[in-house]
Amino acid sequence: MPETVLNGSVVLDQVPVSIALSPNDVTAVPTCAENIHALAKTFDKSDNGRRLELLAHARSLVRALETPRETMIKHCWAQPGVYMAITMGVDIGLFKAMLANRACSKKVSDLAPLLDVDAFLLARVMRHLAAMGCIRETGPDEYELNGFSKSLTIPIIGDGYPCLAGGGRAALDKFSEYAATTAYQEPRSAEHGPFQYAYNTSLNFFAYLQARDPLGVQFNHHMGGYRQGRPSWMDGGFFPVYERLIQGARTDTEAVLLVDVGGNIGHDLDEFQRKHPDSPGRLVLQDLPEVLGQIAALDTGIERMSYDFLTEQPVKCARAYYMHSVLHDWPDDTCTRILTNLKAAMAPGYSKLLINENVIPDTQAHWEATALDMMMLALLSSKERTAAQWTHLIEVQAQLKIVKIWEGGNGVESLIECELP
Ligand SMILES: C[S@@+](CC[C@H](N)C(=O)[O-])C[C@H]1O[C@@H](n2cnc3c(N)ncnc32)[C@H](O)[C@@H]1O
Repeated sequence: MPETVLNGSVVLDQVPVSIALSPNDVTAVPTCAENIHALAKTFDKSDNGRRLELLAHARSLVRALETPRETMIKHCWAQPGVYMAITMGVDIGLFKAMLANRACSKKVSDLAPLLDVDAFLLARVMRHLAAMGCIRETGPDEYELNGFSKSLTIPIIGDGYPCLAGGGRAALDKFSEYAATTAYQEPRSAEHGPFQYAYNTSLNFFAYLQARDPLGVQFNHHMGGYRQGRPSWMDGGFFPVYERLIQGARTDTEAVLLVDVGGNIGHDLDEFQRKHPDSPGRLVLQDLPEVLGQIAALDTGIERMSYDFLTEQPVKCARAYYMHSVLHDWPDDTCTRILTNLKAAMAPGYSKLLINENVIPDTQAHWEATALDMMMLALLSSKERTAAQWTHLIEVQAQLKIVKIWEGGNGVESLIECELP
């Protein structure tokens, strides 16, 4: 291979195409395969930790075996194509139609008139869905659902696809083009960033979705879906709910126990009420009026309050103000405004601020957290933060005190407990 010396380092002038046609890491294959074999022998689906370990080894094996060219085709064609096909499937009700008659296998020629879609188009879309493992091929132009595609009929799982296709993905596709216009600076403005560039709008991501029915409702469903199966601070062994929140809380009828700021349609307060039904005090859900207006069902014991968190917090002296996946949506200066409004409402020695967010570890970040960070970057000019970044934001910029960061595992869904200094 031809080589050049540049700044004291030897660099390849040109990478031969043969590298792109060889497995990505052939030396890793035997170890990956052995790890999979060992773990699979005792696999028990109720052991989620083991399942994730096995999955990580299986992904490593695929990465090691694939050639760079195959990986490139997967990224550039297969994955955008399957996203497109699933989005169309959700939009036209394909997966729901496939559920009929006990989800038995269906012919394209029967589905197409039912869904009012050109049979040639549907056949091509379903063929790619099958090739990508989303549905199962049972014959020529005949398919049945599998666990994944059955789940797409659940709005909290399926609706993320049309939501982001309609009001998100273009910001990712155009991100590099946008970044070039800023000489590749990290975006820091929620009003003038990659999202506004891609969608030619002055609205922020949330306002854009809410202005384009049904994207707002689909986004609420997506929020309900992404949280499923993730660690929850409301469960035992994570955050001592009784000792740190309930014990010492006022019990008079006016007292507010928990204010969920930016709580969307109430997923978290609903979960809290179910898991801690005997806790005293009021539960208050705050979000923008258009979002609260989309609540389909929520216990009447949870109070709804329209509120813009960039303005003064109207509920004073609550036991705890709570924000879940809210601050990651905003750049530091906006977060400081939100935190300052909350701080002014807190009672010294009594109120807590509970921030439920990812705390990205300094190394070995999980792909779900880094993926969310890319979404934050492109959609909201914001970020997933490390412990040092959270500490800087909360203690230096907002002048609050972190009591403890409670860990859900690998920095996922941590609970940052704060109080007035
Ligand atoms: C990423 S979602 C998180 C929702 C919820 N906490 C959860 O974890 O499912 C952010 C929420 O902030 C709300 N939001 C955005 N801007 C807001 C504002 N200015 N005031 C109040 N809520 C706002 C959105 O409507 C959305 O429900």
